[in-house]
Amino acid sequence: MNVLVIGSGGREHALADKLAESSHVKKLICAPGNAGTARIAENVAIDIADHAALADLAIDRKIDLTVVGPEMPLCDGIVDRFESAGLRIFGPNKAAARIEGDKSYAKDLMRRCMVPTAEGKIFTDFNDAKAYAATRDIELVVKASGLAAGKGVVICDDPADAINTLEDIMVKGAFGQAGQKVIVEEKLQGKELSMFALVDGFTIYILEAAQDHKRVGDGDTGLNTGGMGAFCPSPLATSDVFDQVQRDILVPMVDALRCDGAPYRGLLYIGLMLTPGGPKVLEFNCRFGDPECQVMMARLKGDLFEIMQATATGKLDQVSIDWDPRPAISVVMASGGYPGAYQKGKLITGLGEAAAVSGVKIHHAATAPLEDMVVTNGGRVLCVTAIGNSMAKAREQAYKAVDLIHFEDAHYRRDIAAGL
Ligand code: AMP
Ligand code: GLY
Repeated sequence: MNVLVIGSGGREHALADKLAESSHVKKLICAPGNAGTARIAENVAIDIADHAALADLAIDRKIDLTVVGPEMPLCDGIVDRFESAGLRIFGPNKAAARIEGDKSYAKDLMRRCMVPTAEGKIFTDFNDAKAYAATRDIELVVKASGLAAGKGVVICDDPADAINTLEDIMVKGAFGQAGQKVIVEEKLQGKELSMFALVDGFTIYILEAAQDHKRVGDGDTGLNTGGMGAFCPSPLATSDVFDQVQRDILVPMVDALRCDGAPYRGLLYIGLMLTPGGPKVLEFNCRFGDPECQVMMARLKGDLFEIMQATATGKLDQVSIDWDPRPAISVVMASGGYPGAYQKGKLITGLGEAAAVSGVKIHHAATAPLEDMVVTNGGRVLCVTAIGNSMAKAREQAYKAVDLIHFEDAHYRRDIAAGL
């Protein structure tokens, strides 16, 4: 089988790595990929926004299954385009991907099927939103409804802060089109957990849960990022939590999407707050988390190609998935300055030595080849994942590898999965 992976991050490198292990996969192409995927696949330099060129590539190269990593092409309808050309693809179509790309749609759907989530209201008019925020005496969260590169959520200390944020988003256009609609909701208290399910339209298969570390600094300080590290399994994911999420969230949502004419096929990511009143949905994403995907792939024992093929063809009830019982952690190494401005093109050394540390896999997140060297090419540069007999052992191995890798101004968190 010929497989195409779309994207260029650590998540896509980890997916490509796992797909390359499948005995079914004869040819693996990544578009555009990175310096890491170049070692296990053929990179083809096509922009992920160029759906026509990607579909042409899939036709020319006789691709049997395409796997989409990032949300943007899914929300922009790449699945619809591929399917109308008779191409098989893993991921939700445009209508189902609205669950991530249009937070107000997700909120409405949750309300309609009584899925537990933060209480809130949707606004398109600044004055209405302002009037609502002014009457709240609780901490509020303001969210741009559209995709805003992970930056569209602002936690506000008080109504005045919320009104300023609303003005930034709705009047000054801080997130452009994405902020024309906003959600103002209550701030939930509790611990955060990410859960993941494969869905083939009908059947739901819940995968292992993971926790990520979103803030840039140790001790959960500083700005939000795409994710600075993750670990799996999570002690927060008890069987009660799994049961509640399945019964109160997944089953009603998957049914509601199907009834809405948008049957969900692909990976559904559920961002949860475990509140004293039970798990409540913070957000849905229509793709794997990054770096949560990397820890999950480290523990997945089955054939990822078979699993994805079954999901894409409505046969998820025919697969079984095994997990390595050992825990895994991922540490992201980022460019100095990330998530703000940073420089690219820094030489990376020590990758070979680090990859030789027992239990470690290194996934490239933003790298580029330069002659026979590898240089940094973005904010999150590398993701170092380790599996071990205990979380402490996995941590030790991951940080041993991290310490062997060098590039100018590299920074990473020292406390991923600390104390577990
Ligand atoms: P989202 O992109 O919606 O997951 O939001 C990003 C982050 O903002 C989440 O991981 C939470 O840490 C936080 N967040 C979002 N919504 C809420 C909420 N209603 N209450 C508290 N924190 C929230
Ligand atoms: N790590 C969070 C995300 O991928 O959305």
